[in-house]
Amino acid sequence: MGVALGMIYKPLGKSGCLVPALGQGCMGIGGFFSQDISDDDRYIGALQRGYALGMTFVDTAEVYGDGHSEEVIGKSVKGIRDSIFIASKFSPENSSSRGVIDAAERSLQRLRTDYIDLYQIHWPNPLIPLEETLGAMVKLVQEGKVRFIGVSNFSLKELKEAHALLGDKLVSIQNEYNLFDRSIESTVLPFCVENDMTMIAYSPLDQGNLSSPSKKACLEEIAQHHDGTVAQVVLNWLVAKRNVVAIPKSSNIHHVEENAKALAFRLSDAEIRLIDDAFSGNQKRIPVKEIRVVQDGQGNRKAYCTLSEAIENKLGFVPSPADLAEDIASGEPIKPVRVRKTTSTEGGYAYDLLEGRIRYWAWVIANGETSAIPVLIRE
Ligand SMILES: NC(=O)c1ccc[n+]([C@@H]2O[C@H](COP(=O)([O-])OP(=O)(O)OC[C@H]3O[C@@H](n4cnc5c(N)ncnc54)[C@H](OP(=O)(O)O)[C@@H]3O)[C@@H](O)[C@H]2O)c1
Repeated sequence: MGVALGMIYKPLGKSGCLVPALGQGCMGIGGFFSQDISDDDRYIGALQRGYALGMTFVDTAEVYGDGHSEEVIGKSVKGIRDSIFIASKFSPENSSSRGVIDAAERSLQRLRTDYIDLYQIHWPNPLIPLEETLGAMVKLVQEGKVRFIGVSNFSLKELKEAHALLGDKLVSIQNEYNLFDRSIESTVLPFCVENDMTMIAYSPLDQGNLSSPSKKACLEEIAQHHDGTVAQVVLNWLVAKRNVVAIPKSSNIHHVEENAKALAFRLSDAEIRLIDDAFSGNQKRIPVKEIRVVQDGQGNRKAYCTLSEAIENKLGFVPSPADLAEDIASGEPIKPVRVRKTTSTEGGYAYDLLEGRIRYWAWVIANGETSAIPVLIRE
């Protein structure tokens, strides 16, 4: 992998390999949860512009665009494969030994490559022993089909378990980390720092929300001072954290250029502290009965609207709300769900649930309908 002027490189765990501190997320490149084959040329152009500017680390998953994201990446790296670091993930339903191997073969074909640089467990699957899943991943490494192993969306307990099984062979964890959701700072991030693992921050720009309207002024002022943009300040703030690299997604070539050039300036310690303070204390607890579960799921994904539906798990989610409830009942902290103050007067609810419906129902199963759940409140 070549180096680019203005990019920062960080160690990938204890692998001896360096990766750019800013990569390119590919959820939405080639579609979100179904295939979008209408705009491949634009996606490929945006990715290749990012590569040219040093964002040579791409992150995808078998589920993105129902496989098409991997196909687009495969086309984008034609002729330059060895200079690009490709990270992909398999879905929880493929966590058995056979499932992992078959999923990797399908990803390799779609990516038109004979190795994946970083292969990650997308979400934990409590129904399959972690030892079995990781064992299959180690086999892929031994066969040269995968270079490094990572996990994603693991709680601290799950990360510790994976680390106990793999040691330094586990190089990274990919969890959500941005100015709105800083929950990993008190859970998995300190563990990564102590054990020299890389933290790959997903949704670093909070899916384009960048900042809440009431707090944006602080970021704008800092951006102006550096002749930069708010997105660049946010990416800088993340990369300034030890062991953290970030994977912003963009299919807009101007945004790609803006993101790639984010590290052309550096935030001072005082600016980092200012941002730390301005964006602290977002997480609250709200009684579950104050939260309305709305019909339409994020990204048009189906979801449950009642407790009995969630317990029945007719849609076959893996893990199911009941599976997740077992972990929650053991006291494991959960990733906070997203809510917004409701504008509706119906039903006496105070908030609408925006994101995290499986977690919401898992919490209700574990703690009952009179409990209070950790939330992040969108303005
Ligand atoms: N492991 C997991 O479970 C998981 C979950 C979520 C995401 N991820 C990974 O993390 C990556 C990034 O997360 P994400 O896609 O959720 O969100 P994100 O990177 O935080 O935000 C993407 C959004 O921000 C916009 N954007 C990008 N650059 C911008 C800029 N400079 N100024 C203004 N807007 C900008 C994009 O629009 P344009 O395209 O129009 O620029 C897009 O709408 C994903 O693509 C995926 O690889 C992993």
